[in-house]
Amino acid sequence: MEIREVAVVGLGTMGAGIAEVFARAGIGVVAIEADQDALRRGLSTLDGSLARAVSRGRLTQDEQEQVRGRIRAASGFGEAAAADLAVEVVPERMEIKRQVFAELDRVCSPEAVLATNTSSLSVTAIAAASRHPGRVIGMHFFNPAPVMRLVEVVSTVLTSDGLAAAVADLARHLGKTPVQVTDRAGFVANALLLPYLNHAVRLLETGYASREDIDLAATAGIGLPMGPLALLDLIGLDTSLSILDVLRAELGGPRYAAAPLLRRLADAGRTGRKAGRGIYDYAAGAQASPADGNGIGPAGPSTVTLIGSGGTADAELASAAAAAGINVTRNPAHASDLVVIAASPAEPVLPAALASGRAGQAVGMHLAAAGLAEVVRTVATQESTAAAAGALADRLGLRALHSPDRPGFLVGALLYPHLADAVTMVQDCYATAADVDAAMTLGCGYPQGPFALLDKIGSQAVLDGLRAMHAGYGDPAFAVPPLLAEHAAAGLGFLG
Ligand code: 3HC
Repeated sequence: MEIREVAVVGLGTMGAGIAEVFARAGIGVVAIEADQDALRRGLSTLDGSLARAVSRGRLTQDEQEQVRGRIRAASGFGEAAAADLAVEVVPERMEIKRQVFAELDRVCSPEAVLATNTSSLSVTAIAAASRHPGRVIGMHFFNPAPVMRLVEVVSTVLTSDGLAAAVADLARHLGKTPVQVTDRAGFVANALLLPYLNHAVRLLETGYASREDIDLAATAGIGLPMGPLALLDLIGLDTSLSILDVLRAELGGPRYAAAPLLRRLADAGRTGRKAGRGIYDYAAGAQASPADGNGIGPAGPSTVTLIGSGGTADAELASAAAAAGINVTRNPAHASDLVVIAASPAEPVLPAALASGRAGQAVGMHLAAAGLAEVVRTVATQESTAAAAGALADRLGLRALHSPDRPGFLVGALLYPHLADAVTMVQDCYATAADVDAAMTLGCGYPQGPFALLDKIGSQAVLDGLRAMHAGYGDPAFAVPPLLAEHAAAGLGFLG
């Protein structure tokens, strides 16, 4: 398949990024956008991205000019007549997509390939409305398109033989890694990503944790490049909502029911970075709200009562406290500034707090990752105690995030259901564990895929955490996939 010119229809954030990707691969681009304001914004996104690449030394000024010279803007479909490939990147509404494909059918040569960048709508339904359904295919890029390496190539039962392989070759020519998938809502990456993002909004709207702590749990706790709330702002709350609605309609189940806060923010036009405001505020001069509750005092507690089962977490806390010059007593009857319970995400902190006889001065502490402590407050923890625990974490050189005493705490509450969703995908034979990992590392910048992570944590630990969540809430969203229980029982990992 030789592609000399591509028409990119729609110049929003994704359209501008996709136009840049083609132009940087030496392919001529006609960028079609009927709305003049959107066209101006799209070109300015594109110019900003190229300028950034120049400033980072990834592109010379000459190359920048050449790339820019390959892109011409147009406001009408007639300009797509000479294109060998058209990529539709318009809003996620079937009637708009169908109109675009009807126009492309009219102007493009019958040999031209018509691709949709839809995030979730049925490529089959889009193809079926075309006069040449065999040449319609999904080419799903990830935001920011110039950076993320994944392209999901989506074929349908109507796709001509060989087209998916040719489009996969094209993706490689663009410097991307293609993953060939079939036409199911959300394909692989969005079907996994969106319920996780949605769950993060639920945690926010139910007051489980602050937005900063939720994002910190994902970045510092799980190692992801962005927190889920910041990522929602990047993707767009409106886009995310559309994808969730499609996932819910096709797959059902509570994980896909959009959190009311997400819907309200999208309805209010607070759609994320592109609107200047979403879950965070991006207006110039806007201040991030101060991270709540850390309450770092000048010194923090000087004597703590440490309660633990004598396991590794307990020992790590004891040696960190000793290294920071904090006195540690094991006897709750001795005077101390704070009672710290070495906590595990599958077990509540409250019983140990009550048993200490000083529940008001007790918090759980869970070393969730290197340099990160989850400070777990029970219903009995006094506010000053949570603040003192934040100060203690600071003295121990740990970043603190605050979680209620609920199963999984905060990191696990985000992670365990996400891993369970990945297992379900494999269990349902929709994708292999390797494909899921490839999709999430290349499409969403995960340093390791969900299955590599799951194998590292261990199926049993994830199973215990998930079971505790399911038992605690009775919510089918946290039901254990049988395949996870089987792997835990057999002591088997998921990757080779
Ligand atoms: N456009 C172009 N280039 C960009 C960019 C943008 N909007 N944002 C960042 N970059 C480039 C930078 O120039 C930089 O390149 P360099 O390393 O060669 O200098 C590189 O990306 C890293 O950027 P930064 O150093 O500024 O920032 P970070 O290291 O924090 O990385 C990130 C930014 C790449 C966005 C990273 O945080 C990440 O991978 N986040 C996850 C994004 C993600 O999950 N995307 C998928 C969303 S789902 C989706 O799009 C599907 C859709 O259907 C909804």
